[in-house]
Amino acid sequence: MKKQLFLLLTACAALFTACNDDKTKDTTNMKPTITEKPFGVLGNEPVTQYTLTNANGMQVSIINYGGTVTSIITPDKDKKMGDVVLGFDSLAGYLQKENPYFGCLVGRYGNRIAKGKFTLDGKTYQLPLNNNGNTLHGGLKGLDKVIWQASKPAGDSSLQLTYTSPDGDQGFPGNLKVEVVYTLTADNALQIAYSATTDKATPINLTNHCYFNLSAGKEGTILNHEVTINAAKYTAVDTLLIPTGLLPDVKNTPMDFTSAKAIGKEIAAVPGGYDHNWVLNKNGTTLEKVATAYDPTSGRLMEVLTTEPGLQFYTGNFLDGTLHGKDNRVYAKHAAFCMETQHFPDGPNQPAFPNTILKPGEKYTSVTQYKFSVK
Ligand code: GLA
Repeated sequence: MKKQLFLLLTACAALFTACNDDKTKDTTNMKPTITEKPFGVLGNEPVTQYTLTNANGMQVSIINYGGTVTSIITPDKDKKMGDVVLGFDSLAGYLQKENPYFGCLVGRYGNRIAKGKFTLDGKTYQLPLNNNGNTLHGGLKGLDKVIWQASKPAGDSSLQLTYTSPDGDQGFPGNLKVEVVYTLTADNALQIAYSATTDKATPINLTNHCYFNLSAGKEGTILNHEVTINAAKYTAVDTLLIPTGLLPDVKNTPMDFTSAKAIGKEIAAVPGGYDHNWVLNKNGTTLEKVATAYDPTSGRLMEVLTTEPGLQFYTGNFLDGTLHGKDNRVYAKHAAFCMETQHFPDGPNQPAFPNTILKPGEKYTSVTQYKFSVK
């Protein structure tokens, strides 16, 4: 009898453990979710914040103003969750003119166009000059400053944003229909898939401008983050960051990130800090890993995969401690870095650079992933 009772109890204990194990381990059955909440009003238009959560509990929040990523919450090596992007707590923060493109979508042409001028099919176009006599990030009111239409395609892991930029918008030709799909994958990647069509030939170069600090606020700067960029060359620029057309080798220069190097190691030798386009070692438009960033303090690793030929690595050189961000945090110089996947700056005026002109009947596509893990 005693033996039978013992066996019964053992069986019950085993069953209990199995069930319990199921509960703690089985994240695979947890469904990804998207929730939404109001994030202020612009004019008469409500702005909404969408939060994507995957089965691992990773969360990405995006507002439909500028298609802006407002937070990316990932675990550190001790499984403690933290927000790895800079931003603001409220819409007012994002609307202020000092907002340095925190987390937003950038277009129609990310990066600079020299003197805001280009010639297409014999016609010269003039864009607004918003950066030392040049055009930066699509002009005075680029895709970062408009409200996108949001919808949730099936599956609850993606947010689709669409926007039509009318013919002549910021001086660019053609009605440009843009679609961006943000997906939070099961393996902790934020994927951004861009596509666009036009009814007149026009330059296009879409990107995202997240400012990353993988320590999630523990480190005031990213100078100790270790970075790799799979690129043998970069586009040399003049003092106003306009490409000269030369593609110098990174070898034996502070621009060499072909093996892991702390951002701060040689930054002093780069006037102003890093703010350059690297010519990625890749052919064609397959999605490939092109860069990594690792924060030794938190153990967070971010891998960047893209279909694009270039990467603007920018080390927050213009942050100066005057902006008050989330949780009233002060963002000092080099508080974060950006890895903006892109075509090269001033593409429309540099015939030797990869083509940036989209024609009617063609479809522009571009995919980038920021993938998070720990080591
Ligand atoms: C880009 C540019 C920088 C700077 C930031 C925004 O990364 O290359 O020079 O303008 O955007 O502050």
